[in-house]
Amino acid sequence: MDKFMLPNKVAVITGAASGIGRATAQLFAREGARVVVSDITDEAGQAVVAGIRADGGEALYVHADVGHMPDCEQLIQTAQAHYGRIDILHSNTGTHRRGTAVEITEADWDWSLNICLKSAWMLAHHALPGMLAQGGGVILLTGSVHALWGYAGYAAYEAAKGGLLALTHSLAVDFAPTIRVNTILPGAVVSGQWTGVGAAEMHKVADCCALKRNAQPEEIAQVALFLASPMSSFMTGASVVVDGGLRASAPTPRGL
Ligand SMILES: NC(=O)c1ccc[n+]([C@@H]2O[C@H](COP(=O)([O-])OP(=O)(O)OC[C@H]3O[C@@H](n4cnc5c(N)ncnc54)[C@H](O)[C@@H]3O)[C@@H](O)[C@H]2O)c1
Repeated sequence: MDKFMLPNKVAVITGAASGIGRATAQLFAREGARVVVSDITDEAGQAVVAGIRADGGEALYVHADVGHMPDCEQLIQTAQAHYGRIDILHSNTGTHRRGTAVEITEADWDWSLNICLKSAWMLAHHALPGMLAQGGGVILLTGSVHALWGYAGYAAYEAAKGGLLALTHSLAVDFAPTIRVNTILPGAVVSGQWTGVGAAEMHKVADCCALKRNAQPEEIAQVALFLASPMSSFMTGASVVVDGGLRASAPTPRGL
């Protein structure tokens, strides 16, 4: 197992039936991890597990709606019961209802905050005691560049993603040195989140960043692998921007 980056590690990944979570589950499994693939879209999640097993990897599917405390608790308990421990928790699920603060309803706000932000606390709350008892663990959160600046019409999503940054700091400080906690802030990634958005629109999004393209989920998974592995041993409380140079690009027309 020495040639692998995550030999025998147990990784729980939420939102792993699609996009970034799926790519991360597949990469972690290829790097020797035993992966708990969790989602609410069961057929797609089970297909991810079947693919990992077909490639010779080890994986288990667990249905969990991360917006609900009992599901979060049951996910962590199932992973611990099946594999005996959790080394890596990747709280990756995020979804949202768009709108300004005036447009969204209280239900929209609660739904977005539950799934994007409260889920990360709920999963950490249940996973941390086991990680502390075993003497180590890594928590990864999937944030967004939406945490860094305002895009029109994303009030709840941006509040949630901003909250994840603060939660990263809090978890990192409270549970160091035993647990490392880091957040990935992706720019635009071609995934289920963009379903229904046409090619022309996707091109406009891509044009905003220096690399002039949107990321593939695998490119975010590679950063997750680095943060989950001992390669990032001196990193905790960090937010890693993976945006193709979006943040580096001034919003001015070329040549002016
Ligand atoms: N795609 C992007 O451009 C982008 C950019 C920045 C951040 N992100 C973040 O990346 C993360 C992953 O999103 P993605 O782009 O891979 O999207 P995706 O739609 O491809 O995958 C999201 C997965 O989450 C699952 N899910 C939704 N609600 C859930 C719930 N309540 N409980 C459990 N699972 C649930 C979905 O079934 C789906 O499989 C999210 O946190 C998202 O906010 C995405």
